[in-house]
Amino acid sequence: MLSASTADATPQGTAACSRWIFLCRHGAETHLAAELQLGGASAPVWLLSGAVQAHLGPWPDEPQAQLALVAALDPVYALQVLPAVRRIGPGPVERQALAIADMLAQALDGVRSFSLHALLPGDLRGNPRPPGAGRRDRLLAAIDARMSAIRRRTWRQRCADDDPCAAVRVQLLLDVDGDAAIGGGSLELSVAPASPRPIGSPWPSALPGGRLPVDDDPTAPASSFRKLAEAFGQLGVWPSRGEVALDLGASPGGWTVVLRRAGVRVLAVDRAPLTPALMRDRGVQFFEADAFRYDATPHLAPGTRLDWLVSDIVAYPARIVALLGELGASDRFGAGGPPRFVVVQMKFRGAPDLAAVTEGLVAAAASGYIAAARHLCHDKNEVTIVARIGGAGGRSDGGGSSADAASPGGASAAAAVVDAEPEGA
Ligand SMILES: C[S@@+](CC[C@H](N)C(=O)[O-])C[C@H]1O[C@@H](n2cnc3c(N)ncnc32)[C@H](O)[C@@H]1O
Repeated sequence: MLSASTADATPQGTAACSRWIFLCRHGAETHLAAELQLGGASAPVWLLSGAVQAHLGPWPDEPQAQLALVAALDPVYALQVLPAVRRIGPGPVERQALAIADMLAQALDGVRSFSLHALLPGDLRGNPRPPGAGRRDRLLAAIDARMSAIRRRTWRQRCADDDPCAAVRVQLLLDVDGDAAIGGGSLELSVAPASPRPIGSPWPSALPGGRLPVDDDPTAPASSFRKLAEAFGQLGVWPSRGEVALDLGASPGGWTVVLRRAGVRVLAVDRAPLTPALMRDRGVQFFEADAFRYDATPHLAPGTRLDWLVSDIVAYPARIVALLGELGASDRFGAGGPPRFVVVQMKFRGAPDLAAVTEGLVAAAASGYIAAARHLCHDKNEVTIVARIGGAGGRSDGGGSSADAASPGGASAAAAVVDAEPEGA
């Protein structure tokens, strides 16, 4: 499925196709390539660690058609997408900057707002000081100087790098290592509209490389705290003081700590206890119980609705599907209705079970949720399903509108997101 051929190996019959680059957690390239192939992309190839290139249909001129095409391919295993990349050959930084500025002057003509991400191969491996940072800075300064000279008004439309509201995302991927299939000293340029997603940031992601930086916390009882912090970023909603969460499979307490730091009261359920400090915490009620049977309702004020249900239980995917299906039907999660926000891990033994992921999304939709599955930077052999209650029950979170969830073609998009019927529909 995934060959280590060069980026120039255009498959037969794809001359009119556009070349796209999808970024993922390093190590997930094979899963991403398989998913892309399922979604109709041709000839996915390993480009560099954390990046897969694939060919898709011709890149349309019409912005609306571009939006539809971008929305159509949102694979679970992709952190970021660079649609319809164009290659800038190797050469001095100033020459590359001129070529990029010429392309941007055309592509950004009339654009309301845009953001610019310049990525290095080291960024995709999570290297905080990636090689080539100096060259990147010089390139960006040269682009800035040129664009300020030739298209000052257009260039003023530039937003902050991570602004989710930018209408267009400009992305550069520089091959400074010279060991990647892009070709030493070359770079790839993508200019694409940001397409709304039902959950989280529009797509391409507002996060450079699709990566949400999570601060280290040496005092957390488990490094898994990063997964929950990243999941909130993907959901586009963070817990607030005074909210109530049910944490299933909570021990030793990495996720509980994240919730407590946000001021959330936590009902924590596991067969094993939490760390002593959390067991003493008056904001945590611990229950030694089977998470698949635990009844939260007697421990909540009458009529209360849980704000959060989070689950990191190690269990077969089928049990997680059943849990998601139960949320809308069972009264063991509080009498006030299903939890407003959900973060649930689905863990695999061996190959990822994308069919189970789809079943999980369908079950969440049947429970009244708008849900998406993502393989996060901090996920290993697991994916994270993030969901918010649909219709009137959901809190406005600025996380995109469900109206654009329909995926015109693309099995991957269908696998990644399932839209709920509005409540009462
Ligand atoms: C990956 S660990 C959870 C880590 C935790 N989220 C943290 O950040 O510290 C998975 C947990 O699921 C618990 N678990 C597995 N099956 C369970 C079940 N049926 N009921 C309750 N807990 C269960 C295990 O005891 C284990 O503590």
